Amino acid sequence: MERFNERTINDTVKIIDFLYRGRDIQRFWVLEEIARAPYFAFLSVLHLQESLGLRGEQHISLMIQHFEQTLNETEHLEYMESLGGNDAFVDRLLAKALVLIYYWVMVFYYMLSPKNAYHLNMEVEKHAAETYTKYLAHTYDEKIEEIRDDEIKHFHELKDAFHMFV
Ligand SMILES: [Fe+2]
Ligand SMILES: [Fe+2]
Repeated sequence: MERFNERTINDTVKIIDFLYRGRDIQRFWVLEEIARAPYFAFLSVLHLQESLGLRGEQHISLMIQHFEQTLNETEHLEYMESLGGNDAFVDRLLAKALVLIYYWVMVFYYMLSPKNAYHLNMEVEKHAAETYTKYLAHTYDEKIEEIRDDEIKHFHELKDAFHMFV
């Protein structure tokens, strides 16, 4: 399943990179919009499980972690918006369509296998950090450097969550 996750993310990233060549900020905005969806999905499933009386041992710490991650991703999104990343209708349409699909995929993936869902999102965060590192190599932006560091932090938090499940 881990190979499947890696291949899915690599292929998706290649398509987005191709579509957004030469439009870095718009690409970052789309990626940040999508990056929030798994955290919403994790929270939705955790809420549902809690409502059904299926609260696990790590439930509360995971909910706090994922809530903080959604807020942090929203800050990233707002920065990309301040740079004009969502100015074009076509970018907003693509991002919203991808979010709708990705959210529901992640809801079912997390319900069926939290460990694999965390692994998939670790791949997303790793890719996000690499993307920003590449950009920073030619364009210095203090805020994007901070965002890159946040993505690395998310990766490590997800790795810890990944290890909570067998
Ligand atoms: Fe982000
Ligand atoms: Fe992130």
